[in-house]
Amino acid sequence: MLNWEDPLAPFQQTDTTEAARTMPPSGPIQPRPAADMGSGTGAGIDTGTDTQSGAGATGLEDIAMGAGRIRVDDKRIINCRADLNQLVPFKYRWAWQKYLDACANHWMPQEINMTADIALWKDPGGLTEDERTIIKRNLGFFSTADSLVANNLVLAVYRHITNPECRQYLLRQAFEEALHTHAYQYVVESLGLDEGEIFNMYREVPAVARKAEWALPFTRHLADPHFQTGTPEADRELLRELVAFYVIFEGIFFYVGFTQVLSMGRRNKMVGTAEQFQYILRDESMHMNFGIDVINQIKLENPHLWDAAFQEELTTMIREAVALETQYAYDTMPRGILGLNAPMFEEYLRFIANRRCAQIGLPELYPGAGNPFPWMSEVLDLKKEKNFFETRVTEYQSGGALKWD
Ligand SMILES: [Fe+2]
Ligand SMILES: [Fe+2]
Repeated sequence: MLNWEDPLAPFQQTDTTEAARTMPPSGPIQPRPAADMGSGTGAGIDTGTDTQSGAGATGLEDIAMGAGRIRVDDKRIINCRADLNQLVPFKYRWAWQKYLDACANHWMPQEINMTADIALWKDPGGLTEDERTIIKRNLGFFSTADSLVANNLVLAVYRHITNPECRQYLLRQAFEEALHTHAYQYVVESLGLDEGEIFNMYREVPAVARKAEWALPFTRHLADPHFQTGTPEADRELLRELVAFYVIFEGIFFYVGFTQVLSMGRRNKMVGTAEQFQYILRDESMHMNFGIDVINQIKLENPHLWDAAFQEELTTMIREAVALETQYAYDTMPRGILGLNAPMFEEYLRFIANRRCAQIGLPELYPGAGNPFPWMSEVLDLKKEKNFFETRVTEYQSGGALKWD
């Protein structure tokens, strides 16, 4: 399993090994024609290692009464015909483990004390204009970016990932994206910022808008109700979209903003906001690593999809993304701030892009790129217990506080 706590660590093949162990003995799965999907009664199911109990491609088809029980080898990440309403038997234990880990990391935005941030923000001399710009631009980007990711998950990705344990994680991830949007809204409200200004930045500030514009076409294709996987072209469309959202959007486009805000926290400025971002970054690094595991598993099960032309196309996408995120760094900190400057981010993004390429089996795009922010790796090692329960707001109500009278 990939080490979700440190996505910048050298890529380990252990996850691939894990995935390889779960490969069906029959080897790679042949794609099905789109017309063969969703028949609802198990018609069109292959014999051999394929399921005898299959119900269809979404989990909402009719129940095949009396059908044979599901076997591990019936399960596939995409184009699976085994009943998707049955979580077990597990095939992809890494997906189930990530679901458990994510639940163990549960947090809520209102548990984080924002008092110091409110005082600092309201103090006319508390922050420079450049520092205020950093905070507002990043709230502007993330407050809508997380909604875009959530909508992509629920409306585009979920339907096409035909595996219950992966879907279990996707449901948890979708809730976490809601938590992240909640956290940004909570910061905006705490600081008394202009909500209209922040939440409209993705339509009004070019540096913020460009990243969302880049990602939207990918999710639109998959959200089209007529889109179905099952042909090499359609399966590549899904893989392309997974790379766009998990590897690029969550794995590259978030990193300038996270580094900027966490830098402020390291200098004892906007520490509550930085703590919110820290917990979000921990979630995001797990989202990204889950997506990478899914991509690698699809590659293992469908090696014909990963041809030279497709790899070249993904490489071009990653280069475009690095250019866009580099531009975001220059736009958000034109004069440099807190000992950081845009060229450092350019180097960092190249370093990250190399890691992302290695994680999905593409060649490095920027040989020799170094990491100017080694402390970011330490932040990613954040453990659940670190300072968190000491700073927990005591009046926060959890399920254990419910009254029955
Ligand atoms: Fe998020
Ligand atoms: Fe995410």
